[in-house]
Amino acid sequence: MKKFLIMMAGSAMLLAACGGGDDAGEEGEETAGGTYDAEAAASLYESNCLSCHGDQGSGASGPEIAGMDVDSVLAAIEEGPGGMPADIVTGEEAENVAQYVSEQ
Ligand code: HEC
Repeated sequence: MKKFLIMMAGSAMLLAACGGGDDAGEEGEETAGGTYDAEAAASLYESNCLSCHGDQGSGASGPEIAGMDVDSVLAAIEEGPGGMPADIVTGEEAENVAQYVSEQ
């Protein structure tokens, strides 16, 4: 789990460094069991975030969050800024949802 988190952070940094592009693919083997599961992430988002952040993070009572970087979304999930409850999802689920949001 910890390793996965570090990898996520690492890949987010890499992404930032080269301005986006090919992030998927290469890290699949190492994160076996912890790979991003788009379907699970979408349903996690729908049951935990959609009510406040709208369809695909487009914003509702909560701000628009689509396209935010994974680390920022994870930080928000942990901290619960302003009127947002903290730790609605945790661990791998939080990482999955953060990845989902960043890809919207
Ligand atoms: C009860 C409503 C509610 C739910 C549920 C909720 N949020 Fe939020 N969220 C908010 C509000 C309100 C803010 C703005 C807080 C502030 O800064 O005042 C926010 C802020 C954020 C931010 C920071 C936005 C920014 O511009 O810095 C992120 C990222 C975020 N939420 C992601 C999520 C994710 C992912 C989920 C699901 C796991 C989620 N939120 C669930 C209400 C909610």
